[in-house]
Amino acid sequence: MNNRTGFFLTIEGVEGAGKSTLAHELAKALRERGREVVVTQEPGGSALGNRIRELLLDKSSVIGNRAELLLFEAARAQHVDETILPALNRGAVVICDRYADSSLAYQGYARKIDRDKVEFLNNYATAGLKPDLTILLDLPAVEGLARQKKTDRVSSEKLEFHEAVRQGFIQLAKDEPKRFVVLDARQSIDDIIKKALGALNL
Ligand code: TYD
Repeated sequence: MNNRTGFFLTIEGVEGAGKSTLAHELAKALRERGREVVVTQEPGGSALGNRIRELLLDKSSVIGNRAELLLFEAARAQHVDETILPALNRGAVVICDRYADSSLAYQGYARKIDRDKVEFLNNYATAGLKPDLTILLDLPAVEGLARQKKTDRVSSEKLEFHEAVRQGFIQLAKDEPKRFVVLDARQSIDDIIKKALGALNL
């Protein structure tokens, strides 16, 4: 893991912040600069992860808070081993739509599981792999939810839940100012891409 030559970017934010659009636009720009780019997402990013994703997002699933956290972490562990680390080791830029910070914001801040426990499990699931840079696309939860077309088990939680998620992300960014870049998600996508590329400096 330590001799990797790639770059690991994660994108975080509330529902409807525009993370996946940004991931794809950044990938296009970086590929034009000759970089290999792998765009991936959580939960998902592997065959097992995609099956766990279906369980997690299915509105008919009954999942308690501890089981939910462990399922996100199980998907993450497989994602790191099968997709992210091999790509970083061959020098690719990996752009991941959500990663360990989402567990801290959703399961930690919003579901109120102790931060220490989520951090421990994040560390275990990722084998210590941290992003080189994390872009937080910030906007009020109410605006993100209004932009969102699809609803699933997690995104259909009430507004206060999503506002707690937002505040959680803001706190995480304050705690690690070197790793996080916070961008206002209400700007035009062109401005967001320009600022993100500036922060990436690849
Ligand atoms: P997804 O459709 O990927 O949401 P979005 O398009 O908003 O990123 O669904 C992922 C959902 O799972 C989303 O509501 C956030 C939630 N989630 C957690 O609660 N914890 C996690 O660790 C991760 C990765 C996602």
